[in-house]
Amino acid sequence: MIDIRKDQFLDVLRKRYACKKFDQAKPLTDSDCSYILECARLSPSSFGLEHWELYAVRSALMIQRFYSACFEQEAVSTASLIVVTVFRTKEYYLPDSPFIYERGSRFPGGINTFVADYQGYYSWLQDNGLVEHWARSQCYIPCANMMTGAAAVGIDSCAIEGFDNHKVLETLSLDASSWQTGIITVFGHGFDDVDRQKIRMPAKDIIHYV
Ligand SMILES: Cc1cc2nc3c(=O)[nH]c(=O)nc-3n(C[C@H](O)[C@H](O)[C@H](O)COP(=O)(O)O)c2cc1C
Repeated sequence: MIDIRKDQFLDVLRKRYACKKFDQAKPLTDSDCSYILECARLSPSSFGLEHWELYAVRSALMIQRFYSACFEQEAVSTASLIVVTVFRTKEYYLPDSPFIYERGSRFPGGINTFVADYQGYYSWLQDNGLVEHWARSQCYIPCANMMTGAAAVGIDSCAIEGFDNHKVLETLSLDASSWQTGIITVFGHGFDDVDRQKIRMPAKDIIHYV
């Protein structure tokens, strides 16, 4: 039994906001960073494949390089932790690939059962040109979980889609034939005097019970 009330959890979602500048006088602790990364690691993914790997960036030199790779956004240059989520490219997801064997073998039932289940969906993705889109989409799940998890313990964040994929891969010494950048998420403590109004559409306009 998890002892969090609905209103408490909604309060976390209401309080989280996209922090555009962090207070560098208030860096995150090692424990804060491990906690945020654990929120990512525990995230679900399609077929449980965990298409991603995460790069945690904390050094001033590397933060400066990511600032440049992210079109010089202040949220990046002032962050205490930058998490770069990269995902594997298309070839990894072929049903007979070593990656699918490794990941699929972890599940009860074994690799044959896994592939029998996976094959049909993979073929559909492949036929519709959606394999890369599917793999990329997975990265938004750890991003959201990290941001919500951070907000729950008073840590601010911002998702960063404004990045130059090639520069990011170059900075991490990753080969574009194997990896692509999914999403970047930055963390730290914001300033108290920022405008944090929640601009959202009313439920009646966007939620439809059918
Ligand atoms: C996937 C995603 C990518 C985003 N990329 C950027 C970005 O590159 N730079 C930025 O300043 N904000 C970025 N944002 C922040 C959004 O602009 C912000 O979340 C949105 O305006 C809603 O505001 P709120 O998060 O404060 O409620 C991004 C948000 C999401 C979810």
